Amino acid sequence: MPAQVVLGAQWGDEGKGKLVDQLATDADWVARFQGGNNAGHTIVVGEQVLKLHQLPSGLTNPNCQCVLGSGMVIDPWVLAEELETWQASSGESPLGKRLWISERAHVNLPFHRLYDGADEKIGTTGRGIGPTYRDKIERVGVRFCDLDSKRSDQTWLDESAARMTSQLSARGVEESITSADLKESLDWVADKFGHAVRHTGLMLDIALRQGESVLLEGAQGCLLDIEHGTYPFVTSSVTSRANASHGAGIHPGHITEVFGVVKAYTTRVGNGPFPSELFDDVGAHMGEVGHEFGTTTGRPRRCGWLDLVVLRHANRLNGFTDITLTKLDVLGGLDELEVVVGYELDGVPLSEMPANMDDLARVTCLTETVAGFPALSLEEWLDLARKANSDGAGFAALPNGAREYVEKVEAWLGVPIHSVGVGPDREATVYRA
Ligand code: GDP
Ligand code: IMO
Ligand code: MG
Repeated sequence: MPAQVVLGAQWGDEGKGKLVDQLATDADWVARFQGGNNAGHTIVVGEQVLKLHQLPSGLTNPNCQCVLGSGMVIDPWVLAEELETWQASSGESPLGKRLWISERAHVNLPFHRLYDGADEKIGTTGRGIGPTYRDKIERVGVRFCDLDSKRSDQTWLDESAARMTSQLSARGVEESITSADLKESLDWVADKFGHAVRHTGLMLDIALRQGESVLLEGAQGCLLDIEHGTYPFVTSSVTSRANASHGAGIHPGHITEVFGVVKAYTTRVGNGPFPSELFDDVGAHMGEVGHEFGTTTGRPRRCGWLDLVVLRHANRLNGFTDITLTKLDVLGGLDELEVVVGYELDGVPLSEMPANMDDLARVTCLTETVAGFPALSLEEWLDLARKANSDGAGFAALPNGAREYVEKVEAWLGVPIHSVGVGPDREATVYRA
């Protein structure tokens, strides 16, 4: 069977976790392929709210095998906490039973977190993601398959601890790392997780060749991509379809279905230009009604109108076969909705994003205004979704302005809309009839 991919089309937090949880009902495998615990993916089932940072959102399907892929940077201490939380709520310990860690994934060590904690420029999540990827690129990182050889190599421990301490000091961080600290960390990680480390690329490849279904769960979003995002205000991994296969350790030919998750408006956490950002009552409405606070850091998310320049960029890079439009309910109650259809820079119209951040910070937005629709309560939206799906009405069940917005987004992007989110709950989604 082919592999499916779920990707964020904006600056992250589009609602990927909810979609992965829904799609995982039919999946045999779910794999994360990049990023680490900078991600925060929320799943809501009735009263239960799960916030997953490294565990794949397919964990909710007890028959699903879960993989932390080779393109990830994994914080084992956070993973241990997540597993404890999962065990407390589900009674299950999946590690080494249906949760597997790639032997090639890199270990996010306390040093990386300390180093990232001093960031003031980018507004990172402070989770050590960039520094772990930096060590990977510099070829001094620690992979899960290297734990045993590194922890017994005193020369490596001494040199690495000295390097880490001098890098911290150069960054103005007072803490130091001793070789004993480093050995203790590696010993703990190896003892705790060693039994779950596997050649996960091979496992996924065999599964696909046996006709099993594989879902690849993206983290962050296209505009946070290290290469094609709003550099330097980006994360440190490749967030695109092209890396979904590579970061999972399978070949790109396996992927035929790519879900772009698009929030019905735009949000961003952290620093960097955001052309459609609103500083008025409408932005405040989006933030309040949408509960726009970062899942990982709790920081308020900046809010703005839907931006088609952003989405065209994301679609060109990823070739979405389907769009999942999320949080449409949040726009209910606004008289009119605006959508950014292009930019203007120094009087010159632009249909593409400038790569230079000073230019992007200076663009003005060209917008189109469309009709709004009334606010409904979350219970009303949930009822509407359940009824629309059970009687096969699909998008026809949406209130007029909401349906027209969906049709417009589909026409503007030229990609079919697979489903529309109208609330956080797993069932608060209207599927195409
Ligand atoms: P992710 O990082 O892409 O998985 O998204 P997050 O979980 O960080 O943020 C999305 C937030 O919106 C979460 O709190 C979800 O529960 C919530 N959410 C997802 N889809 C919808 C939707 O259609 N409507 C509303 N109101 N909330 C949603
Ligand atoms: P999910 O998977 C939203 C942002 C940070 C910062 C920049 C770099 O939940 O969509 P990093 O810690 O990665 O070096 O921070 O990227 N960022 C996210 N924003 N959702 C995320 O993940 C994010 N992961 C990182 O706020 O601006
Ligand atoms: Mg998130």
